[in-house]
Amino acid sequence: MMKWFAHRGASDRFPENTLEAIEAAIPYVDGIEFDVHFSRDGVGVIIHDETVNRTTDGTGRVVDLTLAELKRLNAGARFKGNGGPMQTTIPTLDEVLELLAPTDLLLNIELKTDTIRYPGIEAYTLERCRAHGIAGERLILSSFNHYSIATVRELDPSIETAILYPYPLYHPEQQAILLGAKAIHPDYRRVTREDVVLAHQAGIEVRVYTPKTAADVRRMIELGIDAVIVNDPQAFQKSLSIP
Ligand code: G3P
Ligand code: CA
Repeated sequence: MMKWFAHRGASDRFPENTLEAIEAAIPYVDGIEFDVHFSRDGVGVIIHDETVNRTTDGTGRVVDLTLAELKRLNAGARFKGNGGPMQTTIPTLDEVLELLAPTDLLLNIELKTDTIRYPGIEAYTLERCRAHGIAGERLILSSFNHYSIATVRELDPSIETAILYPYPLYHPEQQAILLGAKAIHPDYRRVTREDVVLAHQAGIEVRVYTPKTAADVRRMIELGIDAVIVNDPQAFQKSLSIP
């Protein structure tokens, strides 16, 4: 059975990567995907971009702002769906872990080390997950930065990791095996039937981001994908008559 992940929470219905978006997705999914950066004072915060410009009423790089400065921003200021802007804050990693700990959902935490390295973010994220009792089977750490994946493996080889990639990759399952990753997370437009077959033969799961329509999701089901990471799981499930 294909699994569903909410991408940045139910991000078509509530401002992405907020507690509201994550909470709204809980009844509809097997897991939640969200993005972690460091604030200037070294606190894990949940936001997609390296800057606060696109999603909040502030400006500047996340890494240049303290947690107190980040918390003064409205993370719903630029939201356009579901009635428009709303008031909410950038959550910390701890706040999201506290919300999700009592559920049985998978957590797909993306380490946003794509352009900023954030030294120590892998160990920090693992430590905070353990502190909330979330490790083992419920945790997936993913990243476009495969050095981060290698770092997680060095820290604890039992933690499930997944390589993200936006471009066509030659034998992605081999890249995953070399890095000790248990899954590949390609852009849904890049994945091929051969990728899926080879990955499955190697015991590697395939989870794609971010199919845009129910028809895209149907195509992924036909390809035998293990999971989709989507902005509005509720709408797609309704459209595909999935209970
Ligand atoms: O984890 C899948 C997906 O979130 C990766 O792309 O840019 O939405 O973080 P992005
Ligand atoms: Ca992400």
